[in-house]
Amino acid sequence: MRASKGILIQEECRTISRRTILKASAAMFAAGVLPPASAVFAQKILDRTQDQILGPFYPIMSEPDRSGDLTRVPGGSGLAKGQPIIVRGTVRNPDGKPVSGAEVEIWQANAAGRYAHPDDTNPAPLDPNFQGFGAATTGPDGFYQFKTIKPLHYPAGSIGIRPAHIHFDVRGRRDELVTQMYFEGDPYNEKDSFLQSVLNPNALIVKLLSPTAEEPEFMIAVFDIVFRG
Ligand SMILES: [Fe+2]
Repeated sequence: MRASKGILIQEECRTISRRTILKASAAMFAAGVLPPASAVFAQKILDRTQDQILGPFYPIMSEPDRSGDLTRVPGGSGLAKGQPIIVRGTVRNPDGKPVSGAEVEIWQANAAGRYAHPDDTNPAPLDPNFQGFGAATTGPDGFYQFKTIKPLHYPAGSIGIRPAHIHFDVRGRRDELVTQMYFEGDPYNEKDSFLQSVLNPNALIVKLLSPTAEEPEFMIAVFDIVFRG
């Protein structure tokens, strides 16, 4: 009897203790000290951006432009041919925190589908006013941006026609991500073996958005990136 009474007292203490903790938590939530439980459980681990091959045209022979604007060449005669676009986004880690100091490189074909690379045998013309290789470093907000042009699809030998895409190499302190960004509506997206090799091809495809009033000639492509940082 004494033992069962002891158990009852212990149980009551546990109940009171639980009740006290819950009350204290509710008070802290009401005071804004704690987030609601739903917010804690809703916090999602972001999927890492899917990898793609580096490809044969990484511009090993030149340094990337760091002006943020690939549509003009210093001392050049004009603007690059093609639809000007702004490619921008935020680099985050899987917890959703912006990654500061990430090095974001992009390289791409020009508006005729030609890379400024000695191994590109596409007879399409080079564009002397286009820099197909740029780099930017993210700030504390993880943001990056490039002004560039929309590339054209291009022939890739036995692989077939590659849809328009921009290559990315994102380097952090612990991780490196190599991927490609594609454009919604490209007729070659569905047949591309590289794009279709990933679990979720749509996650690598962006929709071009309307320009802003400040820069009416540039359509906008938002491509957010997740890697370990
Ligand atoms: Fe490519």
